[in-house]
Amino acid sequence: MSKFPENFIWGVACASYQCEGAWNEDGKGPNIWDDFCHEQGRQHVKNRDTGDTACDVYHRYREDVALMKRHNIKAYRFSVSWARVIPDGDGEVNEKGLQFYEALVDELLASGIEPMITLYHWDLPSALQDKGGWLNRDIVAAFGRYASIVARRLKGKVRKYMTLNEPQCAAFLGYGNGEHAPGWKLSEEKVAQVFHIMCLAHSEAYRAIKAVDPETMVGAAPCGRQCYPETDTPENREAAYRETFNLSSVQGWAFTTNIFLDSLLLKKYDESAPAAVRRFARTIDPADWEKMETLDFIGINVYNGDMVDSKGGYVPRYPGFPLTATKWKVSPEVMHYCVVNNYRRYGKPIVITENGQSCNDRVFLDGKVHDPERIDFLHRYLLELKKGIDEGVPVLGYLQWSFLDNFEWAQGYDERFGIVYVDYRTGERIPKDSAAWYAKVIETNGGCL
Ligand code: NOJ
Repeated sequence: MSKFPENFIWGVACASYQCEGAWNEDGKGPNIWDDFCHEQGRQHVKNRDTGDTACDVYHRYREDVALMKRHNIKAYRFSVSWARVIPDGDGEVNEKGLQFYEALVDELLASGIEPMITLYHWDLPSALQDKGGWLNRDIVAAFGRYASIVARRLKGKVRKYMTLNEPQCAAFLGYGNGEHAPGWKLSEEKVAQVFHIMCLAHSEAYRAIKAVDPETMVGAAPCGRQCYPETDTPENREAAYRETFNLSSVQGWAFTTNIFLDSLLLKKYDESAPAAVRRFARTIDPADWEKMETLDFIGINVYNGDMVDSKGGYVPRYPGFPLTATKWKVSPEVMHYCVVNNYRRYGKPIVITENGQSCNDRVFLDGKVHDPERIDFLHRYLLELKKGIDEGVPVLGYLQWSFLDNFEWAQGYDERFGIVYVDYRTGERIPKDSAAWYAKVIETNGGCL
């Protein structure tokens, strides 16, 4: 296949709570995932797993960066733990926390790997949750301050930030159905309020980072339903576009990219908004819309998609449709159309900020970890991504989720998404076959696909 664009960013991604461990070391404050996992009398996470130690990246990051370098990785997207840097979210700064991230960034740069930072990947300082978390507007200023502190410390070293990771999960799973921390189960209107405050927080952080260094690119990494056409006709494409952004879809409104991105980039809700969202929208102070900032790039976390017919109806899957270990549908076509659709709507450059699959990986008799399903998955998705690029969508990069196996939230350690296997008993890292395969993809800039 022809190569990907010059300077295409081939990377991997992870998040603080999922891999760092060291949950109470060097002055770090508690966060909502610490609390959620430790809650006595209630089990929120499979096997009662916690991120207390996780992959111990806090202590082993040098080894991990060396492993990335050996696999030709060009960029590492990781998140900063807010409570490690500001233990109570809005008060004193923990110098040791900043030192850790600076050391990690320096190690990456020395290895020729671009650091890409997510500021919020779901681990809110507990002290802020106690004040209402993302339902309390005070968090907007606190988030801006936190962004500014990180950006100042890493000025000239980090050139790409993502403010929020998957606000859809943080808002809906955290405040709607309670599957994620903080485990609240509130009304749809309250969930809409969380989204709105998150948009204001993104905007505040955007301004804060730009004030430190206007050259830095600031985006976010939303997720959401991505539809693709049953067959590639103009009519079907149109239907897939409409259903992707349809807030009144039978599939709901919270898992859409536009519930977040429309507020920022179009400064309004889509007219398909359902009653609960419209009720909340009527309570918004009109001055808020003036505060909404843009994004310099749109990150998209994408794992699977929905096939729709010419009327936007969901096409049922045939029996035995291919699934990942998490039972997510293997639907590579989504890659092509998600970049086309989001570019058509917003006209911003795109980074695939997450993509990958979980497998039931284990160490084979030969001591290696063979993961042909993951290789096949990534291969298919990348071929489809290239179609979007060839149609003219400016896709800046692709970040595989994830480098190491890690803590998969409510699923604990049962789900393995890494291209590097982690033995959680010892911390040992074993690159899977997919790691060598990905190294080759990067080396050839996609030419080997
Ligand atoms: C979405 C999230 O951003 C990440 O934290 C999670 O582990 C992966 N996708 C896989 O579910």
